[in-house]
Amino acid sequence: MLEIAFAKPALPKAGALALLLPEGMPGEAPLAGLAAQLDAAMQGGLARALEAAGFKGRKGQSVTLWAPAPGLTRVLVQGTGKAEGAEWEKAGAAAAAALAAEPAALLAAEGADATALAAIAMGAVLRRYRFDRYRTTEKPEDKPKLAKLTLATAEAAAARAAFAPMKAVAEGVFLTRDLVSEPANVLTPAVFAERCLGLAKLGLEVEVLGPKEMKKHGMGALLGVAQGSANEPRLVVLRWNGASAGKGRGAKAEKPVCFIGKGVTFDTGGISIKPAAGMEDMKWDMAGAGAVAGLMAALAGRRAKVDAVGLLGLVENMPSGTAQRPGDVVKSASGQTIEVINTDAEGRLVLADVFHYAIERFDPQFMVDLATLTGAIIIALGHEHAGLFSNDDELAARIEAAGRATGELCWRMPLAEAYDKQLKSDIADMKNVGGRPGGAITAAQFLQRFVQGKRWAHLDIAGTAWSSKDRDTVPKGATAFGVRLLDRLVADHCEG
Ligand code: BES
Ligand code: MN
Ligand code: ZN
Repeated sequence: MLEIAFAKPALPKAGALALLLPEGMPGEAPLAGLAAQLDAAMQGGLARALEAAGFKGRKGQSVTLWAPAPGLTRVLVQGTGKAEGAEWEKAGAAAAAALAAEPAALLAAEGADATALAAIAMGAVLRRYRFDRYRTTEKPEDKPKLAKLTLATAEAAAARAAFAPMKAVAEGVFLTRDLVSEPANVLTPAVFAERCLGLAKLGLEVEVLGPKEMKKHGMGALLGVAQGSANEPRLVVLRWNGASAGKGRGAKAEKPVCFIGKGVTFDTGGISIKPAAGMEDMKWDMAGAGAVAGLMAALAGRRAKVDAVGLLGLVENMPSGTAQRPGDVVKSASGQTIEVINTDAEGRLVLADVFHYAIERFDPQFMVDLATLTGAIIIALGHEHAGLFSNDDELAARIEAAGRATGELCWRMPLAEAYDKQLKSDIADMKNVGGRPGGAITAAQFLQRFVQGKRWAHLDIAGTAWSSKDRDTVPKGATAFGVRLLDRLVADHCEG
């Protein structure tokens, strides 16, 4: 992770310098702070360069000066416009992207207080992420180098304090991005579960269930998906007791919140096999489980005052001589029977049994699941919003708000009896697909049949778990969508 430091402002004698200037500087306001100092050292050369470039501090404007003073490799001057809130984070991300080739840089942001500086640091850290485990022949000059960013501030202690919890969240985001980026030959359900065991070092209680325990719990829906694969399924339970741990013994513990992730480590479609083109994308069909793991790491890392449980349903969906067939009827842990019309609608089968386990064991105050559940949600919302389904208006509104605050946007979709009818089966309690119309909605209706009236929200992240282009704080690849969103939901509503 990009190393972050906060220090008193002083012109650096070597390396790179980033100057973030607001709208109207220079122009309405003269250069100030380190920019003014550098300008003096350059005999007015900085002001002249900015004038010549037409730089006015507008958002998106930037000017690079190469080696403008002895020792300095470059000065990046970047406009921040009328930066506030999330804009600071984007400014930090843009600076980190522009300075990727520099090993170290000092950044000064005019008008940024301690909170804003922490946000700039967070943006830079998030944008600097890269998964390069399997690049062995890349030339050093082609690799991004930025390893340390120092932010200039007179309030270093306050900025450090503001950044500490953000750093824990960034670590959670990176854990998720690492997991989701791994290919499916490496990250099998068992290996995923093993990596989760490593989270015990953060203070999480980690339990792993295998097929034997699953059989005992009657998880026929999940096991039906797993039965075609040589890689055994796992159910991981991650517990963070940040609220009850602080209270004395005998204090009545509040019900925990549960976060549940679809973790299909590879989705071939099973016997209802997917077409070859693009099938490699299905290595990230475990992004929901990946996000829940990262979220739990974030909550533990920042010692959140909440009792939270993360549940990960980990399976591989393969075609083989032992795979389930279209038309098979399976019995879920809840007792409800399901006719498996299409073996590619496997995520809902996995979640059905994990929901039941979560409710029976933890009686949650509410539960949120994350799942790359349907291609239909991509058709509906593209890659800009996750689909949000909920049986509780307050929970839905809170998730939408947390999404706006973190840039992980959600769009509420309907649930209704009429859609539920599409799941009627001639042989079992339901079938696992409802036809093409409203495919993301009928998938959510299927899930709703397993929530026993509990407060619940479902996030269909099929369109947002992976990005094919660099975005502000999210480099191309695994986005870790859901980690920041649900961390924010907890911070805003579950810690008081
Ligand atoms: N994992 C897929 C959904 C998906 C598709 C995620 C594209 C990301 C990108 C899911 O298991 C699936 O195959 N869904 C089917 C359901 C259908 C058979 C009812 C789909 O969306 O086509
Ligand atoms: Mn599928
Ligand atoms: Zn799937």
